[in-house]
Amino acid sequence: MAFVKKYLLPLWVLFLAYYFYSANEEFRPEMLKGKKVIVTGASKGIGEEMAYQLAKMGAHVMVTARSKETLQKVVSHCLELGAASAHYIAGTMEDMTFAEQFIAKAGKLMGGLDMLILNHITNTSMNLFNNEIDYVRKSMEVNFLSYVVLSVAALPMLKQSNGSIVVVSSTAGKIANPLIAPYSASKFALDGFFSSIRTEYSVTKVNVSITLCVLGLINTETAMKAISGIVDGNPAPKDECALEIIKAGALRQEEVYYNNSPWLAFLLGNPGRKFMEFLSLRSYNMDKFINN
Ligand SMILES: NC(=O)c1ccc[n+]([C@@H]2O[C@H](COP(=O)([O-])OP(=O)(O)OC[C@H]3O[C@@H](n4cnc5c(N)ncnc54)[C@H](OP(=O)(O)O)[C@@H]3O)[C@@H](O)[C@H]2O)c1
Ligand SMILES: *[C@@H]1O[C@H](CO)[C@@H](O)[C@H](O)[C@H]1NC(C)=O
Ligand SMILES: *[C@@H]1O[C@H](CO)[C@@H](O)[C@H](O)[C@H]1NC(C)=O
Ligand SMILES: *[C@@H]1O[C@H](CO)[C@@H](O)[C@H](O)[C@H]1NC(C)=O
Repeated sequence: MAFVKKYLLPLWVLFLAYYFYSANEEFRPEMLKGKKVIVTGASKGIGEEMAYQLAKMGAHVMVTARSKETLQKVVSHCLELGAASAHYIAGTMEDMTFAEQFIAKAGKLMGGLDMLILNHITNTSMNLFNNEIDYVRKSMEVNFLSYVVLSVAALPMLKQSNGSIVVVSSTAGKIANPLIAPYSASKFALDGFFSSIRTEYSVTKVNVSITLCVLGLINTETAMKAISGIVDGNPAPKDECALEIIKAGALRQEEVYYNNSPWLAFLLGNPGRKFMEFLSLRSYNMDKFINN
């Protein structure tokens, strides 16, 4: 107990102070002006709103999803709102070859990339888990593996621009809820993978920021339908949510919590975990992985 009082507590307090202080920069919409941004899952819901917010800020916008017709509408609305440019490439993120080629084509069209916003998910309904192994595999592939493939393909361009990867996750990627086991697994996987490579980037001086977005309930059509009659929630507006995600990405924050109660957000922010990660890293010999 004496040890805890003497060393751990002051360290923890310092750490928390740093953690909250560092998230306190100012956002300006001009930060996105002329930036080249990809948004996946942008034919509807939060993704569509992010495309519009980016367009208003004067960004170059590249959107993707499966349905061509809706993407076309999103692109023309982006141009009306003032996007520096707006394009779409349609395809399914079940196909990893499409994911990889999408980034190559997008990079060519925009002439680089500043921000990769990963947002799409495969359709999800709330149900007891009933041994649907194929659905678990599909959730992991679309909601998780394709995010890794897209990031790998985009990394060379993001390194050049000192860019950002923004990963849209959920409260269900931080705490366990019933009726969405496959979805939850895929969102937890995103946290494990992207938080791990964030530490690697930090140690190896790769200046690409990674922002994990932990969203509570948002009023998209899909979500409202999925929870109807099952969960009593207090959904937040999708346009404000979209703006908060973009802000956090532009400010290079590690995590952002949106529409979680303040208490929940504080506890989910998990200073205990952050502190243990900090301590744990000290027992690693990372020098041999740094080549300059
Ligand atoms: N809404 C909420 O309450 C809530 C809460 C927490 C977290 N989130 C997260 O926020 C993000 C967006 O959610 P949302 O509610 O806005 O969802 P949404 O409205 O259903 O949008 C999902 C997007 O993904 C696309 N998509 C679906 N299957 C795809 C596939 N196989 N390949 C490529 N694209 C595909 C859809 O377009 P197509 O069908 O045309 O392909 C659509 O553009 C997700 O990551 C979700 O987990 C949402
Ligand atoms: C997803 O959508 C497809 C096609 O619309 C449907 O066949 C499938 O049952 C849906 N899956 C879930 C989990 O909602
Ligand atoms: C990226 O950051 C490095 C320093 O970290 C700087 O020298 C370089 O000019 C930056 N590049 C861009 C495109 O901002
Ligand atoms: C990383 O890139 C950002 C954005 O360009 C820049 O503000 C920051 O100074 C860079 N950090 C380092 C350590 O180079």
